Amino acid sequence: MKKKCLVVTGGGDCPGLNAVIRAIVKRSESASDWEIWGSYNAFNGLLENPIRLMKLDNKAVAGIHFKGGTIIGTTNKGGPFQWPRQSDDGEVELVDVSDEMIDRMKELNIEAVINIGGDGSQSISQKLYEKGVNIIGVPKTIDNDLSSTDMTFGYQTAVETATQAVDKLVTTAESHHRIFILEVMGRGAGWIALNAAIAGGAEACLIPEIPYKIENLTKMLKLRSDGKSGFAVIVISEGAKPVGGEQSGFKPSEPGYENFHLSGAGHRLAYDLKQTGIKADVRVSVLGHLQRGGIPIAFDRILATSFGVKAFEMVLNEEFGKMVSYKYPEFVSVPIRDAIKYYNYVKLDSALIHTARGIGICLGE
Ligand code: F6P
Repeated sequence: MKKKCLVVTGGGDCPGLNAVIRAIVKRSESASDWEIWGSYNAFNGLLENPIRLMKLDNKAVAGIHFKGGTIIGTTNKGGPFQWPRQSDDGEVELVDVSDEMIDRMKELNIEAVINIGGDGSQSISQKLYEKGVNIIGVPKTIDNDLSSTDMTFGYQTAVETATQAVDKLVTTAESHHRIFILEVMGRGAGWIALNAAIAGGAEACLIPEIPYKIENLTKMLKLRSDGKSGFAVIVISEGAKPVGGEQSGFKPSEPGYENFHLSGAGHRLAYDLKQTGIKADVRVSVLGHLQRGGIPIAFDRILATSFGVKAFEMVLNEEFGKMVSYKYPEFVSVPIRDAIKYYNYVKLDSALIHTARGIGICLGE
């Protein structure tokens, strides 16, 4: 009987997930004693009754490398350590069902798991590893906020989408002599915002790593546009905040949804700018999930494919408890526990910040 390797995609989707899945399946072909299965919607497929798994063979993965999303689905709620279960009084409580899940894996002869996900998913990987599961992590997120790898796949596609949005806003801002604010994703890290601002030629860029002062923006904006001529584009990260202020957003009430939902940074900035007496119209565009969907650019397809090949080779080499990592120009393995220890912030002394400052982008500092 062949050994089973289970592939799981967890957390927010991101361009390139399908390319990883395809590469795992293709790489496993030469190891004839393995077959690959996928669990629907992260670990939910293993936890639900009936179990929902999908055989991932050559036919199932044919031509999926350029498709966005994930053919096995994902979720950023719940999971084996926080499974929503209705109690007798009708209340939904979150329970740890990891032992039941591990028992099911044993019954199904699943000998290895490849968990493709961001820091939340890799925290689950680490806990399962500590419980004896043979697990490998693959780093995924458009936010590029995972440490221990030079880059995550999906991030460069998101930067491309955000840059195209800046390009489009420039032409309408110029025609109407307006100030445009583009709010982009990225959680606590300003990678997408900073890259799109530099690539698109924005006048200002506000990121979570540098709390901004409104007065540092208004002077530049008043010089740039009086509402009759001139224009400006500001890229703001969803996690940006003013000096002394908090991030904009709310804690969702859905059971098992752990993340603080960041939203409103762009509109707050527009309101605050108008309070300073800026004459030009200020408009806000929120790019949202457009950054997560669609076709991965070639760079991300290649990165994702390399991650998939390396991940399966780590299964063959029994490098469990480790995550695939891109350390230019190599693909290496690092302990998952190290990868989830630190958040990958934009460093203030980095070349990227130096470049932004060098071309006069106002960082609100
Ligand atoms: O982590 C990826 C990400 O897209 C973040 O940039 C964003 O804050 C969050 O997920 C949005 O999550 P949801 O899909 O739950 O709205």
